[in-house]
Amino acid sequence: MEDKRYFEGKMTVKDVELAGRRVLVRVDFNVPLKDGGGVADDFRIRSALPTLKYILKQGGKLIMMSHLGRPKGKRVPGMSLSPVRDALEPLLGVPVGFAPDCLGEETEKMVAALEPGGALLLENLRFHSEETENDSGFAERLAGLADVYVNDAFGTAHRAHASTEGITHFVSPAVQGFLLEKEIEFLGGMLVNPEKPFVAILGGAKISGKIDVIKNLMQKADGMLIGGGMANTFMKADGAELGDSLVEESSLDLAGEIMRLAEASEVKLLLPVDYVAADRVEEGAAVVKVEPGQPVPKGYAIVDVGPATVSLFAEETMRARTIFWNGPMGVFEVKEFSKGTVDLSKAVARATEAGAVSVLGGGDTARAAKEAGVADKITHISTGGGASLEFVEGKRLPGIAALTDRGEG
Ligand code: 3PG
Repeated sequence: MEDKRYFEGKMTVKDVELAGRRVLVRVDFNVPLKDGGGVADDFRIRSALPTLKYILKQGGKLIMMSHLGRPKGKRVPGMSLSPVRDALEPLLGVPVGFAPDCLGEETEKMVAALEPGGALLLENLRFHSEETENDSGFAERLAGLADVYVNDAFGTAHRAHASTEGITHFVSPAVQGFLLEKEIEFLGGMLVNPEKPFVAILGGAKISGKIDVIKNLMQKADGMLIGGGMANTFMKADGAELGDSLVEESSLDLAGEIMRLAEASEVKLLLPVDYVAADRVEEGAAVVKVEPGQPVPKGYAIVDVGPATVSLFAEETMRARTIFWNGPMGVFEVKEFSKGTVDLSKAVARATEAGAVSVLGGGDTARAAKEAGVADKITHISTGGGASLEFVEGKRLPGIAALTDRGEG
């Protein structure tokens, strides 16, 4: 029998007694804020609600902690979690107190005053440098606020920080929340036992950041569809004329090696066949459509995939039973160049309706599904950016590894 994987068999919030106890939950409320204040995208907050509501319903005293941005140990007012509290309160449906610091006398008093079914959000953990330094004294002080520790911050599970890893040495058991459990179920399920055919769609600007993902998926997937800036380097290695498109010259050999590996592993690797090219990467640029087999004109760079590529990729996804997608097909942040990514997300939604399991990771990919109006048709949209990529690379995520195994709690 194969060894148990590090992410399997962890204790969950359902395995512990919560009533009347101080339940400290690490959530990932690192959400985008609007310029004038307020939360711009509450996806991560909503995703944590099942765990938070469950704790309240069980009569736990709910204490939530998170980071926001990278304040590097300083109190940065623009990175306060206070707007998150305002967005959370109506969603949670109970008053949420706000502690002005994650530690200290005032915070301890607020924790001590919590009633069963009450909720408190602590200020940004990263206002203390000890958080990212995984300082054990700091972790022990955080643990002092808790009778029970729950980690539901999948988006931060790739960081060995005081609130994700260090704390587990001081409070036992350390259990996962429902979001973490769900992320592991879908991302882990896809790696361990995907229903075949398994098609991976990878996009984004550069190959260099995605090498380990490509290599790991190459061993599991039947098809790999590559778009976005990273596809240019593959196409250049294959001899295409790409005008002024972004190419990672230093990764050309690597791209060639990956294409040979795909052939040897019998993985169908597909690249874009037509493109949208522009003379500048910004709204209002002059744009040309580059038909299949045609070179990209000089002075123009590829900014999106064309309709023939979307059809080709859509056909592959329709044959799939499992689909993983990370990274946009073009310069998605410029609206004019987002069509390929948006259309492909509609195709992934259709494949899902036809019975495939679809898993999306990364902020832009999730935004494309939302923009296309198909987010609710996707099987699972991960709340993790870097965390979902590292998980799929096969790396051990410290925030998950540190949790208590069933039978040990
Ligand atoms: C994320 O948004 O990817 C997580 O919240 C982790 O944030 P970090 O990259 O600043 O550690």
